[in-house]
Amino acid sequence: MIVSLISQKGGVGKSTIARLLGVEMARAGWRVLIADLDANQGTATAWKVRRDREELEPDVDVMKLRSVERAVKEAARYDLAILDGPAHAGRSAVTMARASELVLLPASYSLDDLEPQVRVAYELEAAGVAPARIRFALGRVRGSAAAGRGVRDYLRRAALTALDAELRELQTIQDAHMIGRCASETSHPHVNDEAQELAREIAAALLEEQKD
Ligand SMILES: Nc1ncnc2c1ncn2[C@@H]1O[C@H](COP(=O)(O)OP(=O)(O)O)[C@@H](O)[C@H]1O
Ligand SMILES: [Mg+2]
Repeated sequence: MIVSLISQKGGVGKSTIARLLGVEMARAGWRVLIADLDANQGTATAWKVRRDREELEPDVDVMKLRSVERAVKEAARYDLAILDGPAHAGRSAVTMARASELVLLPASYSLDDLEPQVRVAYELEAAGVAPARIRFALGRVRGSAAAGRGVRDYLRRAALTALDAELRELQTIQDAHMIGRCASETSHPHVNDEAQELAREIAAALLEEQKD
């Protein structure tokens, strides 16, 4: 199966969710590949180097790949390939989405993040990607519960679907990334629980799409 993380903006949380999902699915026994398509940043690849240095389990394969086509070819050897997209995904976004059972559009509560992602969602739908396969993932969340309700309202009115679980923006997650860990491997068990809940919801959405 393939899941894509897509955005036109950098820094919305694609690689963070890719790492979280990669670790949690590998822990659940899936053979997982994170395909790092962000050639300029190579965030996932650099993280993998740190993870190996710390000898952390589970081991997650990360490959830096230049094209979506290559990533799709590599995906065949895995139970799950997570396509960690570049900033300015552009036309490759459609290619990624068409190859995927599930498309995740990360965003924060900020309209500056949300609006471009809403445009991406509509572009993907216009290109024939089934709306049911597209989910917003609120992954760098800061602000009040009321702000969160506002965002969910906004998405609902735009006829778009968001995952229920979200990831708060927390220093401990940044700290975890620095030592090759992911959002569910921080030093705070309740943060890890929240992150695992997001990973579980994504896994459930994937399995749901697999059935169809
Ligand atoms: N929930 C979070 N809490 C803390 N830091 C986060 C969180 N999500 C993302 N970040 C940090 O924000 C920056 C951008 O996130 P990243 O996942 O790399 O975005 P993208 O892949 O979309 O460019 C990184 O430094 C990352 O560690
Ligand atoms: Mg990234």
